[in-house]
Amino acid sequence: MTQLITHIIGTGSYLPEKCLSNHDLSQIVETSDSWIKARTGIETRHIAAEGEVTSDLATEAARRALDAAGLTADDIDLILVATTTPDKTFPATAAYVQAKLGVTKGAAFDIQAVCSGFVFGLATADSLLKQGLFKTALVIGAETFSRILDWTDRATCVLFGDGSGAVVLQACDGDKSAKEARGILAHHIRTDGEKADLLYVDGGVSSTQTIGHVHMNGPKVFKYAVMNISSAVMEVLRQADLTIEDIDWFVPHQANQRILDGVAKKLGINESKVVSTVSRHANTSAASIPLALDTAIRDGRIKSGQLILIEAMGGGFTWGASLFRI
Ligand code: UT7
Repeated sequence: MTQLITHIIGTGSYLPEKCLSNHDLSQIVETSDSWIKARTGIETRHIAAEGEVTSDLATEAARRALDAAGLTADDIDLILVATTTPDKTFPATAAYVQAKLGVTKGAAFDIQAVCSGFVFGLATADSLLKQGLFKTALVIGAETFSRILDWTDRATCVLFGDGSGAVVLQACDGDKSAKEARGILAHHIRTDGEKADLLYVDGGVSSTQTIGHVHMNGPKVFKYAVMNISSAVMEVLRQADLTIEDIDWFVPHQANQRILDGVAKKLGINESKVVSTVSRHANTSAASIPLALDTAIRDGRIKSGQLILIEAMGGGFTWGASLFRI
């Protein structure tokens, strides 16, 4: 049966020029390269330059994704930016991206689901495109996370970095039930506000009128991440009537190598199918999945027609997974 299916037709990503190694961090807080590598797999992270804002990072990734898709700003009628670190309280960072790209039609708004933002954004854009409300969308994950870190807190400041990633989506006629159907096949997103205090920022517009800093109960987040992500993955596979063995590439949220390994082990995914880029950019929150996806497409690992599984978990708690054939 023919229906509208959302295809991913281009990807792009961007990391700011400035790099901060584990060794650099050991000059700022009491930590070491060996501790950070052993507990997280992280080696370096990128830090946005002074004056470089989230919409700058998002715009650069979007331009690269448009180039890859062979499209221009004139083709775009929807922009979603997943971010926890917006340029300003309002307007949405997506509005600045729209202006910077020179897009003049459609809608642009932000998605706030912290590290799960890209999965939530993809699900939102997919739903809007499948309804026929828009034709071609940019979904971008972009963060200047370094600006909400307490650089005296070694438990958090070593874990995060800045960056952006983007995908171009287009609604096309197709048959989703066909065995080799391309496009977004299933998604599953969830929130549990009862766990808000396990990963949060202690500031905000209406509470303190300050930006605040990240706080996290690392071990508890770790435990729930493996559990929630695994159940979201099983749900998207059930929806699409596929199994773990059908997946060509697993592109998880790049939070921590130990979480990536834990989820892959629990689900029985061979490590040769896992795309991991966390060592070179740390946890870039909403940007991490499109960054890893773009990396593996550009280096030739991910090929057209392959089945991709993405997943994330973040503050809120929020979590989710998506399944698509590229
Ligand atoms: O998108 C979701 C985002 N969240 C995450 O990805 C985080 C999930 N959690 C984790 O990845 C891990 O819990 C961490 C990497 C954050 C921490 O690893 P852990 O094995 O759970 O360590 P811990 O928090 O239990 O701390 C162990 C020790 C403590 O010392 P004591 O009390 O045993 O003496 C910490 O003070 O490690 C110490 N520690 C550090 N030492 C050196 C904490 N941070 C550091 C550090 N350098 N940067």
